[in-house]
Amino acid sequence: MTDHVKYERDGDIAVITIDNGAVNALSHAVRQGLGVAVDRFAKDADAKALVITGAGRLFIGGADISEFGKPPKEPFLPAVLNRIEAQEKPVVAAIHGVALGGGFEVALAAHYRIAAKDAVVGLPEVSLGVIPGAGGTQRVPRLAGVATALEMIPAAGRWPAGKALEHGLVDALSDTNDMRAEGIAYAKTLLADGKGARPIAAMPRPEFDAEAFKAARDLWAKKAKGQVAQLTAIDAIEVATQTDLADGLKTERELFMKMIDTPQRAGLIHAFFSERKVTQLPELKGVEARDLGKIGVVGGGLMGSGIATAALLSHLPVVVVEQNQEAADKARATITKNLNSAVKRGKMTEGQRDQLLEHGLTCAVGYDALSDVDLAIEAVFEDMGVKKAVFAELDRVMKPGAVMATNTSYLDINEIAASTSRPFDVIGLHFFSPAHIMKLLEIVVADQTAADVTATGFALAKLLRKTPVRAGVCDGFIGNRILSTFRAAADRMVLAGASPYQVDAAIRDFGFAMGPYQVADLAGLDIGFMTRQRKAAEGKADSVQPTWADELYHMGRIGQKSGRGYYIYDDARKGTPDPEVDALIAAEREKAGVAECSFTDDEIQRRYMCAMVNEGAKVLGDGIAARPLDIDVTLVAGYGFPRFRGGPMKWADLTGLPTVLADLERFAESDPAFWAPAPLLRQLVSEGRDFDSLNTGEGA
Ligand code: NAI
Repeated sequence: MTDHVKYERDGDIAVITIDNGAVNALSHAVRQGLGVAVDRFAKDADAKALVITGAGRLFIGGADISEFGKPPKEPFLPAVLNRIEAQEKPVVAAIHGVALGGGFEVALAAHYRIAAKDAVVGLPEVSLGVIPGAGGTQRVPRLAGVATALEMIPAAGRWPAGKALEHGLVDALSDTNDMRAEGIAYAKTLLADGKGARPIAAMPRPEFDAEAFKAARDLWAKKAKGQVAQLTAIDAIEVATQTDLADGLKTERELFMKMIDTPQRAGLIHAFFSERKVTQLPELKGVEARDLGKIGVVGGGLMGSGIATAALLSHLPVVVVEQNQEAADKARATITKNLNSAVKRGKMTEGQRDQLLEHGLTCAVGYDALSDVDLAIEAVFEDMGVKKAVFAELDRVMKPGAVMATNTSYLDINEIAASTSRPFDVIGLHFFSPAHIMKLLEIVVADQTAADVTATGFALAKLLRKTPVRAGVCDGFIGNRILSTFRAAADRMVLAGASPYQVDAAIRDFGFAMGPYQVADLAGLDIGFMTRQRKAAEGKADSVQPTWADELYHMGRIGQKSGRGYYIYDDARKGTPDPEVDALIAAEREKAGVAECSFTDDEIQRRYMCAMVNEGAKVLGDGIAARPLDIDVTLVAGYGFPRFRGGPMKWADLTGLPTVLADLERFAESDPAFWAPAPLLRQLVSEGRDFDSLNTGEGA
């Protein structure tokens, strides 16, 4: 046994307690300790039954993910679990908190399972690019049938105990979380009823159901397009219908090891850890956030209403200030609509909604309503003059120490800050639309922003359950700056001869939910038009202009909201490509004197990705992003980048930086200004390093 696994006896019931940090992860020491403890139970003549339980908040959180990708060390979990299952005396898993992944597999190796009512059990492995590797795909179908296995495992299911009980995955629910006592009582009842060991291995082979397997494969081929773990999990479940448990476990393990070696596993694990590391910044160490009891929002338009909704969803009182009563009423109506859909999705009850609208939300005219808020977020029109006027008012009314934030997408936050008497209290909090749904929050730290104001931005993100990323001030910060570059790469391909529909399809094939021209239609071609106008006015216009996009805009084809843009939309907003658009683009090519060429899908993906990575390297070189992982999280959480690829910088590492650099140099031959490789990329290649080597510095 080890320090993390305790064996004791309570009368004739033995109890094994796993006690390994916050999540009771199945680290090497725990696997070893569990094996030893089980052997001790086998030899303990005074013990008639065994209860396995977890110390602290939960049963067992899962495998120790930090051991993934490293050489595995014996004893392996499947072997330990077989020893548990082979016990001749009954073994009870007593679950509270969560039993996930390997943790649930431990419970499945026991002969009986009792779970606290509010416990959660499940097999979320596919969300990390692997399949259950210690019996999950074999024992679940044997215990509860293939339908249950096919419902839970490919979906990375985490089920409430009640649902698990209905499906037969647990045998009983307990009212309390005192699982030592509940487990012992349950074991005693079993003994009193004359119940003995009940290994899943001895249960009959589950029946094969051709239709169910076909339906599951069709569903997941579509739902998790391009991903391998879901379909492999289904294959593993099918094996359970063909062999005995021992052989099934062997095949499952082989498939698991195969998944461990995939780039998708590397990408998903990278995304998982990166999301946790975004808040670990040296500048935040030991810095306490300011109070966040009540916040304000200036401007209750699209973004302001969304931000206010996000606050209410987290039960944070919010004051929205608008220009006039009509606009204030409109803001309240929008927020009410947002909360109504939260009620519909089961996120809150009608009573909670009414309570929040009545006591949590104030929609007012006049800045005085903000005199007692701890933080205010400005979300008025994107215009420096308007923003400065708003900040002058905030400066006038807000209490000392209050944080003054702007949701600007592009404007210079240093300039906004400098217009106030307290620039150290000013920060950018860049939400994404719809703000109550999108996870990403760029925390834009200006030159003079105080450290505890930055910490308050991160604290707000935590309250609102957002994924925060630290960014520096520049045009577009991290996300929109990189976006404008890869969009420009797409436009260059279209001008050179690719159809926007081919570009969209290739980008979807890469794993994005939508291609850039579908996104343009969704956001509205008016937005793109205005952005180009702004950039031209600021002297920042790109040398290649999508003149066809201006044409579409002038034709009133501004995308989904007008029924036509790049695509033609039906009532269900399903888009169909339009040959007229291809013709319009061809005419623009001719005007520009471009000799049309063609692109393979692979070439389209390469150019799109290389543009993204190269701008990412520049963003890093300029100090706008602290680490490559911050860029990866930005693109995954805010721009639909396929999570299974980890992020653009991770993609570059997996592709190999020398290959990325060679591609950029090849593209630069015909367009040197746009494709010039970032100095940081050249440096990393010359030093034989990758982006990940920049993730491991202090704080990472
Ligand atoms: P919007 O036009 O929907 O809303 C702006 C609101 O501000 C209007 O309701 C207007 O009445 C109000 N307003 C204007 N001046 C005001 C003042 N002096 N006092 C109080 N209220 C005032 O605009 P939207 O889209 O919500 O954008 C707001 C800000 O958020 C802009 O800075 C924009 O760049 C930024 N943003 C927008 C995103 C988007 O997807 N639309 C995404 C991220 C940031």
